Amino acid sequence: MTTIKAQDPAEAAKRKAAEWAASQVEDGMAVGLGTGTTSALVIEEVGRRVASGLRITAIATSEQSHREAVSLGISMTDFAHQLHLDLTIDGADEVQEGTLHLIKGHGGALLREKIVAMASSKLLIAVDPRKLVKTLGSVFTVPVEVVPFGWETTAKRLRDHGFAPELRVNDDGKPFITDGQHYILHCDLPKSGLTAEEAAVAFKQTVGVVEHGLFLGMASRVVIGSVEGTQFLE
Ligand code: 5RP
Repeated sequence: MTTIKAQDPAEAAKRKAAEWAASQVEDGMAVGLGTGTTSALVIEEVGRRVASGLRITAIATSEQSHREAVSLGISMTDFAHQLHLDLTIDGADEVQEGTLHLIKGHGGALLREKIVAMASSKLLIAVDPRKLVKTLGSVFTVPVEVVPFGWETTAKRLRDHGFAPELRVNDDGKPFITDGQHYILHCDLPKSGLTAEEAAVAFKQTVGVVEHGLFLGMASRVVIGSVEGTQFLE
């Protein structure tokens, strides 16, 4: 007997957003490829299109996504050869309803994600409706990438701002290390009492911080997938 598995609606929504986003890639483009489960679906779909003749070059926002793209035959480049990207497609942890404000980086790739996004004419964010929040920080912390040397003092300064930072650790209790060989401190935005804009400034002014996961108004468009179709924020 064959069993047909009902598809999880959240997964189906994610796939819808990813497929729509991947459909925006055009022949000849230089494309930024994001990180996370939604981005993995985008890469899968772009890989399918490449196998059918689409010609693009790409830069990935993590070693993981790079490996996924290479395994699908996507032609990869780097910033030494390609300073400007036409389009980057990535996911997000939170999207503030009615805005283009995001929290990103819970996949640990926020620094490369921001570098790649800044090098792109357009940043397209693909999400399912679970990512929509009234206020940034309601569900997720803000990941802040810091230099390992003296991270305890960086954490103290972030604590003084009220962010209650917590070091991200692996299952073995050792610090999680990013592709850039940094640590991540998870910061609680609501606890700080600061607005997202104020917090972004505070993070940037903190010595030891390399980058933070607040992407405020950087996206050109957010595509929200659902079983019924797609909606947009722009
Ligand atoms: C990785 C990210 C991801 O885009 C974010 O975590 C969303 O991931 P997913 O698509 O798996 O929900 O910012 O650093």
